[in-house]
Amino acid sequence: MKKAVYPGSFDPMTCGHLDILRRSLNIFDEVIVLPASNSTKKSLFTTQQRIDQIRRIIAAEHLEDRVSVDTFDGLLVDYCIGKGIWTIIRGLRPFSDFEYEFELASANRGIDSRIETVFLITNLQYSYLRSSILKDLARLDGDITGKIPECIKDEFIARVKKG
Ligand code: PNS
Repeated sequence: MKKAVYPGSFDPMTCGHLDILRRSLNIFDEVIVLPASNSTKKSLFTTQQRIDQIRRIIAAEHLEDRVSVDTFDGLLVDYCIGKGIWTIIRGLRPFSDFEYEFELASANRGIDSRIETVFLITNLQYSYLRSSILKDLARLDGDITGKIPECIKDEFIARVKKG
């Protein structure tokens, strides 16, 4: 049984993230999605809200058999060691992501050399999607259809507009 973790801020999970998750299931039998805190970002949603959102998305997409959601505090590598899972999935967008992802993957493998990060190249249609762009679009009444899963769209717009 090939297992992997898919960590990220997921604040919120976008259609780009969902596309990476779906494609990772072509490689792995089971994937654990891990909404985590990124110390360099201020979150819009609490961890519990992000877990609930991801659960709704997984149910709407009928992925429950092979995808679960969990969370962790501390180092991602410690979570992986605790679960006996040695593969981390990350999506890679053009240009902006490489340096950061290189450092993150190297840091994680530096902590434990059994850990490998598998990068899936972001589908071109989502290559410019990042949460700051989505937040601007939602705040300024732009159309975010097809950019964020429908089942969390209204919650996201309401939260962004609340400020
Ligand atoms: O979606 P993001 O914000 O790029 O995800 C980054 C994340 C949450 C995967 C990363 O910040 C992380 O793994 N944080 C947990 C602490 C950790 O293990 N950091 C890396 C080694 S120092």
